[in-house]
Amino acid sequence: MQIDLEHLHYWMCAIRESEDPKRTLDAFWRGQIDSKLWLIENIKPFINRPNNIDIHGGWVGVLASLIFQSSMPVRKIRSIDIDHRCETVSRMMNKKEEIDGRFEAVTADMCEAKSTAEVVINTSCEHITQKQYDQWLMNRSRESLLILQSNNYEISEHVRIASSLEEFVKQSHVNVLWKGELKLSLYTRYMIIGKIDV
Ligand SMILES: C[S@@+](CC[C@H](N)C(=O)[O-])C[C@H]1O[C@@H](n2cnc3c(N)ncnc32)[C@H](O)[C@@H]1O
Repeated sequence: MQIDLEHLHYWMCAIRESEDPKRTLDAFWRGQIDSKLWLIENIKPFINRPNNIDIHGGWVGVLASLIFQSSMPVRKIRSIDIDHRCETVSRMMNKKEEIDGRFEAVTADMCEAKSTAEVVINTSCEHITQKQYDQWLMNRSRESLLILQSNNYEISEHVRIASSLEEFVKQSHVNVLWKGELKLSLYTRYMIIGKIDV
């Protein structure tokens, strides 16, 4: 996938203007980018028309920006994060689409967030406890396609890792339409595409 110069410009502005540029740059580690490109490639077969997409735990908005730059059809992306500092950074990261009314950044707890989006992506499953995840799932619509990612990387901010893809499937309580794992240099990323009911 090609990163275009206009988006690169907004990425640089977002990093430069963020309260903690080093932390923002963490979103650009090879493992983070590879995991998001892998997600985009694997959800494409499930997306055949422009959809509303909610990204929960959307951090500084890099996944939204990569989706906008991919060939995936998109109506609008909403990036939701509990950390209010993410809102300004992800708005700048996706400034072009925000101006066009196709991007919105929201500060909220994803576990309480209701959503009518056709696609709900949660790549921060390792950042919420099982209890929080169960609440998150309870608030999802049966109509939404759910895209979940977690990993086996043991660091303090990861409160619920999975030691295998099968363990992640057990934690997730969804009907699995697709699952896979991506071996990265420091950890393995797991992904499930599913629905509450199929
Ligand atoms: C380090 S980042 C993202 C890691 C993930 N692997 C990725 O690239 O998508 C985790 C994000 O989840 C957010 N987060 C944690 N708990 C949350 C919650 N309950 N609701 C919304 N966002 C949450 C954090 O604020 C943080 O921005």
